[in-house]
Amino acid sequence: MNFLVLHGPNLNLLGKREPAIYGSETLAEINSALEKLSAELECELSFFQSNAEGELINAIQAAAQNCHGILINPAAYTHTSIAIRDALSAVGIPCVEVHLSNIHSRETFRHSSLVAPIAIGQICGFGRDSYLLGLRALFNYVKN
Ligand code: DQA
Repeated sequence: MNFLVLHGPNLNLLGKREPAIYGSETLAEINSALEKLSAELECELSFFQSNAEGELINAIQAAAQNCHGILINPAAYTHTSIAIRDALSAVGIPCVEVHLSNIHSRETFRHSSLVAPIAIGQICGFGRDSYLLGLRALFNYVKN
């Protein structure tokens, strides 16, 4: 099985970006933890990060070719992007939404997600583990 891991804007800055909120791990370290888990689960991952909404949408559309699921941290686009939600709906590939921080315990503008209603589920607040739990959940969902 192939899964696409999508990271939205500013997640390329992880490690240096507001470490009190997002932790001190880099995106490369999170991706490498996911790679390790994928070896255990025996699935293939591809990774993509972009600060641009259109590039994330292009990646979602391209995933329709060969991808069984999408693990996505849409970052700030979670709260604003109808276009990313529409792209996920259009391709119809199961997706799990993840966040490092607990978006529900932060500013009110972060409490709503445009993606969550069309995702299988949302995992937030566990730092890197949100991604690892998300991949396990997505894998089990697709497998079953
Ligand atoms: C985030 C939460 C978002 O509200 C924020 O805009 C991000 C990161 C998270 O992983 O906690 O950039 O998605």
